[in-house]
Parts: sequence; C-alpha cells; structure tokens
Amino acid sequence: MSGSVASDDTHALVNLEAIRGNARRLSAFAGKPILAPIKADAYGHGAVRVAIALEPLVWGFAVATTSEALALRAAGIVKDVLLLTPPRPSSLAALVHSGVSFVVSSLEELALLTREAATQGETVRVHLKVNTGLNRLGAAPEAAARVLLEIGRHTSSLELVGVMTHLVDSEDAAPEWAAVQLERFNQFLETHRVSVPYRHAANTGGVLNRALGAHFDLIRPGIGLYGYAPGTNLAGIILLEPAMTLRGPVIHVKDLAAGQPVSYNATWHAQTDTRVATVRIGYADGYPRSLSNRASALVNGSPVPQIGRVCMDQLLLEVAGLEVAVGDLVTLFGAGAITADQVASWAGTNSYEILTGIAARVPRVYLE
Ligand SMILES: Cc1ncc(COP(=O)(O)O)c(C=O)c1O
Repeated sequence: MSGSVASDDTHALVNLEAIRGNARRLSAFAGKPILAPIKADAYGHGAVRVAIALEPLVWGFAVATTSEALALRAAGIVKDVLLLTPPRPSSLAALVHSGVSFVVSSLEELALLTREAATQGETVRVHLKVNTGLNRLGAAPEAAARVLLEIGRHTSSLELVGVMTHLVDSEDAAPEWAAVQLERFNQFLETHRVSVPYRHAANTGGVLNRALGAHFDLIRPGIGLYGYAPGTNLAGIILLEPAMTLRGPVIHVKDLAAGQPVSYNATWHAQTDTRVATVRIGYADGYPRSLSNRASALVNGSPVPQIGRVCMDQLLLEVAGLEVAVGDLVTLFGAGAITADQVASWAGTNSYEILTGIAARVPRVYLE
C-alpha cells in the first residue's frame, strides 16, 4: 500500500489533512490530548501514514495487536504506543524491547510484564484497565485494586501511566450503561485515591456526549478521527470530515434490452432498454455483497443504483441517460453525498465495519 500508485484504478483516497482536522477539533472540544486509536490499520486508512500525520498532534497511539505495535516502531514512531489487548507471551520480549506500553487487566498479565521488564532491565509503562460493565477486558474494581497495589510494589520495573475503562453505549441517545460505568470508575479512583498521570474512558461517543463526563485526562476517539460520529444522535456536534473516499473505474459500458438480467442469479432485470456500467470493485475489495441491489454510487457526480449481485471483483450500475465512459472513476462512498454511514445502513452494519473491511488489495492513495 503506497501513495505512489496511479489513482485511475480502484483505490481508497485518504485525506490525511481531514484526519488532522478531526483530531484538532476533537481535542479542542474536550480540551484534552488524544490517545489515537489506529488499530485495524487505522480503521482501514493505513496505520503508519496516519501515525506519521498525527504524531505532532496527539499524545500517543493505541493498537490491538503485536504486529500493529511493532510496525509503528519500525516506521520510526516514537510517541507512546499502547497495546490494548494482552500480548502473546511469545511476543512480549519484542514488545518490551520496542518500548510499547501495555493495558493490564489481571495480576497474571502483570506478573508476565514484571518478569520481562526485569529480564531486560527496562521499565515497562502500563495502563490499568478497570472493568466497569463492558465485560470484555479489565479487572473488576476489587481485583483492579489488587493490581494497583502490585504495581506499587514493582516501581523499578513498572510505571503506572494510566487508569482506564471502556464504555458500553456512549453513542446511544439515552445510554443505559455509560453513566453507571463512569460512576463505578470515579468511585474506584476515589476509594483507592488513585494518583496517576492519565485517567481515560472516552471513545468518540464519550467525547461527543459531553454530558457523560467521560473526558478525564486523555481521550481515545477512534471513528471520530476518520470523520464519522458513532451514532446518528451525535452527528453534527462538531465538524467531522470523512477521510476515506472509495473509488473504482468503469471498465465496461453496455446497452441492455428490456427483460435482460444482470449479474449472478439474475436478481435484477432491465425494466426498459437501458445502459449498464461495470465497475472494477467487488466484495473482495471490501464492498459488501449484502449491498446487492441496495446501494447507490456516484458516477460523474450523479447518484445511480447498483444493480444485481455484487461480484468478487466487479459490480454493476444502471447508468441510463448518463454520459459514462470506460475509465470514469465511480465513487462508492466518501465525503459528500454517499458516506460510509449511508453504505453501512444499506448493508445493515456500521461505518467501522465498512472502513476496516476495505481490503488490503485496494491501494491507499494519500492526499496530504
Ligand atoms: C479500548 C478502546 N478505546 C477506544 C476505542 C475507540 O472507539 P471509537 O472508535 O468508538 O471512538 C476503541 C475501539 O473500539 C477501543 O477498543
């Protein structure tokens, strides 16, 4: 994936300045620095390029896997890289050697880190995760208190940088859980008189839903960086500019007689004589097959219906009455009329899955 590929073929155009602008506005809205989630290849936008673009603006980066963490270090990222999930024991040595920080949810995880830190003679930076209701990772408050004590016993090997939790439903119009979670989190911090540089809880929903009181010392907005609000009720609170535009070229145009079928299983038939354009993008590129006969795309600025089954490498559009030629670039989604949110609602999913699902074979082309 490089920025030097020609942009007349299938590609995802990534506007790095849009990501920087979103970061500035999210940080200004909360008045807090950003720990930028760039896991899943920066939600499909390309983690290394996004990290390089954001490094001057953010406090650090959050990733989900060992290879994501190491790739950032290999690319020369020096700011904090926080691994959000427990590492495999076999990758611990490399991670500690690279100065990666860890989220800790249990005494067992802590023991592995303490041992590796001692072996390497390094101080490992950790963020204690308190499970307040998501029940995915994190220690329940009582167990978290024991982890906290244990960290305090190993100050030569461990540095407690943060205490964090993760919210269940901060994007909902009337979150049932987030308020309860934040009460538990605050109670934990008070009861144990936690003194730590960074307390953090806010995903994009927690940032935009200011009334929740989730901003603390550091914010972790992911989807917001890439230009989307996590729920319709949070849209428009601040300007978020979608950063990715997915495009594919028209590779064939044909006139079709009324009654003729289109694509596999003949799920669509021409009602009248019409024109059909074939576009080089399909479900293997991450444009879901579930969009078959449901979506629209932009051809030279005009919205046209996608027709018949989306294929592995191609899809079809009805372009009756339009000037369309082979080589014209079709926009499947991006800033403007058709957003990833719109595509997600047609596909019965969310913008996260659409963006992270854009396949590795789709070159990312960067707009600085
Ligand atoms: C621990 C953690 N923090 C923050 C985020 C960012 O969430 P969002 O993209 O909803 O802002 C995620 C993403 O799932 C996460 O797992």
